[in-house]
Amino acid sequence: MVLGPRGAGFLASLSFEEGDVLLEFIKCSGWLRGSIEVSFGVFVGEAMWLCLVVLLGLYHLLRWYRERQAVSHLWDKYVFITGCDSGFGNLLARQLDLRGLRVLAACLTEKGAQQLRKQTSDRLETVILDVTKTESIAAATQWVKERVGDRGLWGLVNNVGISIPTAPSEWLTKQDFMKILDVNLLGVIEVTLSLLPLVRKARGRVVNVSSIMGRISLFGGGYCVSKYGVEAFSDSLRRELSHFGVKVAMIEPGFFSTNITDVEAFSQSVRTAWDQASPEVKELYGETFVSTFLESLETLKPRWSKNLSLVTNCMEHTLTACHPRTRYSCGWDAKLFYLPMSYMPTFLVDFVAYWSSPRPAQAL
Ligand SMILES: NC(=O)c1ccc[n+]([C@@H]2O[C@H](COP(=O)([O-])OP(=O)(O)OC[C@H]3O[C@@H](n4cnc5c(N)ncnc54)[C@H](OP(=O)(O)O)[C@@H]3O)[C@@H](O)[C@H]2O)c1
Repeated sequence: MVLGPRGAGFLASLSFEEGDVLLEFIKCSGWLRGSIEVSFGVFVGEAMWLCLVVLLGLYHLLRWYRERQAVSHLWDKYVFITGCDSGFGNLLARQLDLRGLRVLAACLTEKGAQQLRKQTSDRLETVILDVTKTESIAAATQWVKERVGDRGLWGLVNNVGISIPTAPSEWLTKQDFMKILDVNLLGVIEVTLSLLPLVRKARGRVVNVSSIMGRISLFGGGYCVSKYGVEAFSDSLRRELSHFGVKVAMIEPGFFSTNITDVEAFSQSVRTAWDQASPEVKELYGETFVSTFLESLETLKPRWSKNLSLVTNCMEHTLTACHPRTRYSCGWDAKLFYLPMSYMPTFLVDFVAYWSSPRPAQAL
């Protein structure tokens, strides 16, 4: 507490006892004011936290309420799904069929199509589609057009994807990259462009299955490149199509046990890439690198989720909710590990990546 010149003069005019008492009083009032200020500060701090918690709660409540508004007349809506032979596509086709939507399921093989038809209602129809072939896409588009008529196509789910060849990039060739990009990126783009007029007619939805590896790239080869591409394509498409009432959503799953994450197929792919690598690359990496790399794949396998409905429920939401999200992270690994990691500074991400992967024999 600071006294002005007038206060100091007044104090000097007082007798010793009077001055002492007053000084004590001033000390006490200073302490009182200090503690009032502290308590007030604590109160303001707590009130701010409370406000923040209430606002956050309100935001989530509103979001929850908004997101559970469902689209009506689902039984009259057509959804075209690619890659329905197995995995997410197969489960989604069955799930939407049960929900009452009209599912147009594209399979790569007749065997896959037959099996799916056996497990579903008569309303579900199948078509054979190879997304790397323009004539196959054109034929499938015509087939869809004949079914949906003037109603248009409510949903297009670009689910097709492959993951091999995967290995450190220097072991691979341009053709290895092209093989994945052809299916995962160019396939998605061509199917979308071909079916877009039908989706626009219905003011429907485009659902692109990306990956959490489209947010953070943790291994070499074309897979992460293709998924980054899907994210970029979907982002610009979303803005362009919003003018016409079409919504675009992205599904970003973590790791799940399906054919695409089959460890035997991965290991075979790594072995093949290693065999075709140049002598210089082999000397740089060394055999121990390959065996450790393959062992680490084996240890990862049991951690991959088997609950595919974590992904298909997100897909279903994009097609049945009035207000679907733009991005869906599916699986705990995606939500709690890879997505937060993608926001971290690069040096931290690199540290985790170096720590968890083997070092080449001649690493500096
Ligand atoms: N599983 C995961 O951990 C994970 C994680 C993130 C993202 N994803 C993505 O999820 C999507 C579905 O994958 P999934 O895990 O369900 O694997 P999946 O079971 O292998 O499903 C992929 C489907 O695509 C089909 N396919 C492959 N090449 C094709 C082509 N050229 N034309 C048409 N269809 C073709 C496959 O047919 P065949 O079975 O006959 O080969 C299969 O039915 C993919 O885009 C994948 O990248 C998966």
